Amino acid sequence: MCGIIGILGTDDVAERLVEGLRRLEYRGYDSAGVATVHDGRIERQRAEGKLNNLARKLGQEHLPGHSGIAHTRWATHGAPTEDNAHPHIIGDVVLVHNGIIENFKPLRDELLAEGRTFNSQTDTEVVGHLVAREVERGASPEAAVKAVLPRLHGAFALAIMFKSDPDLIIGARLGAPLVVGYGEGENYLGSDAIALAPLTQRIAYLDEGDWAMVRRAGVQIFDKDNNPVERPITLSGITGALIDKGNHRHFMQKEIYEQPVVVAQTLSSYLRTLEARVALPDMEFDLGSVERVAIVACGTASYVGAIGKYWIEQLARVPVEVDVASEFRYREPVLGPNTLGLVISQSGETADTLAALRHMKACGVTTAGIINVPTSSMAREVDLLLPTHAGPEIGVASTKAFTCQLAVMAALSANLARAKGRLEAAEEARLVRHLTEVPAAMNAALSHDAEIEGMAHTIAGARDVLYLGRGPDYPLALEGALKLKEISYIHAEGYAAGEMKHGPIALIDESVPVIVIAPSGPLFEKTVSNMQEVQARGGKVVLISDAEGLAQAGEGALATIEMPKVHPLIAPLVYAVPVQLLAYHVAVAKGTDVDQPRNLAKSVTVE
Ligand code: AGP
Repeated sequence: MCGIIGILGTDDVAERLVEGLRRLEYRGYDSAGVATVHDGRIERQRAEGKLNNLARKLGQEHLPGHSGIAHTRWATHGAPTEDNAHPHIIGDVVLVHNGIIENFKPLRDELLAEGRTFNSQTDTEVVGHLVAREVERGASPEAAVKAVLPRLHGAFALAIMFKSDPDLIIGARLGAPLVVGYGEGENYLGSDAIALAPLTQRIAYLDEGDWAMVRRAGVQIFDKDNNPVERPITLSGITGALIDKGNHRHFMQKEIYEQPVVVAQTLSSYLRTLEARVALPDMEFDLGSVERVAIVACGTASYVGAIGKYWIEQLARVPVEVDVASEFRYREPVLGPNTLGLVISQSGETADTLAALRHMKACGVTTAGIINVPTSSMAREVDLLLPTHAGPEIGVASTKAFTCQLAVMAALSANLARAKGRLEAAEEARLVRHLTEVPAAMNAALSHDAEIEGMAHTIAGARDVLYLGRGPDYPLALEGALKLKEISYIHAEGYAAGEMKHGPIALIDESVPVIVIAPSGPLFEKTVSNMQEVQARGGKVVLISDAEGLAQAGEGALATIEMPKVHPLIAPLVYAVPVQLLAYHVAVAKGTDVDQPRNLAKSVTVE
């Protein structure tokens, strides 16, 4: 998955293209490139690695041209080298691509057999050759693209330019997002409205299978059967200013610190504090008829689902299944009537989750989505949108989106419980009160930042780290391990504390730090027993608990982190803070690229 942008401008576009790519770096940062059509030539500049490498090159050598396309890459086919960087030029055609052409191998073999040569290992170059071949046979750009699109299997968003026509960019999408931007005497294409925000707010979202002929004077859109279609132009309302880090060293740190505010914002749209009630947006179906919930998500969002399973089953007594989206469709899930399909996603574009959502819809399931980006594909496709108000999350490691998703999940669980007749008004009032305490409790958790930074150096030297928790804090242990892995590159695993004795305890020795998440409460004593089994084998424990828990079990720990005393329901939201801070400080101590860790991308739009 990658980010693409195209501009048909009224002056040189290279700088604006790079500005657009900056907003798309969340989609990948293995390499970047820009191409323009200028004076009957295709001009191009590409660079391996982060966008700054390309910006530096362009600073040294100006790239002229009023028409151009650009790309930031997350490598799928071929290493992240300059040769594999987009745009790819094939004859008179230049193109950028986001997605995967699944049948690229037979297509490539067909083209090789004709004696065509390839300069990269990418699947994209195959598309370029197919279009160039049509053009060489005398087809117009329009006819060439029209002939090639039906031959492509997989997922793609394409922007294609032609040496012969500097007033044309052809865009096409299937399974990957693409928007058209309408300007004054200029028009644009982009992976999302955020990329185009400094250029225009007037955005049309292309539908699945659409393709578009973008010219300065106007845009023609066609559906998958080549019928001319109109797609509504909406005002994106996205600010043109680039989000900055404020006083923070990294976006991740800033986003951890924003949590009390954004969680409060999110909760305020779901809590009616005066009436002591939890409320969801209006919906066209009866929550009371839900007999089963199928939750599908990826990575961090899937752990929100796993925590939600505890909450929904305990409060509403409705059975819940949680799947990682990449497995969901392929295990042929049984989706009966009265199932609510729930997707959770920060970006709303994760390909696996989007495919799962479409599968659920195709099976006739009513769907809801806890989603942060309101203009995303998922937000537009779910039956019931449950928005999070985390604001743009830039750091690849998800932090504030996670806790905002949990806040919405708590509201949904309570609503479902009420709709099922299982939540008395007094109990609902108590839940509302606990939820309103979350922002202050998060602030209290943040006040331990310096201590956590102090212990990070010890953890940074470890080769393996284990995280333990029970109940809803078990998925939080999984989240802690994921956070540490992705930004510090230290191997980490999360386990249900009680599961240690069934195998993983064999890993324990004095070199393996074990982070134990154990708020005092009904599961505390059992978790502490499991922790003691670890300590008895020389394991070095970092215990995260409240004052009561630490007084009871903190002795003998390598370190302790004191949390405020909170109700077990909201513990995962509050305990997420030290877990995130620990991963953050360990990564900083190791000197890794915290906001853009190796091999990752913020939004994973390939399956
Ligand atoms: C979290 O830190 C990750 N980078 C990743 O697991 C992420 O949560 C996952 O890819 C899902 O993304 P989404 O929420 O945008 O769908």
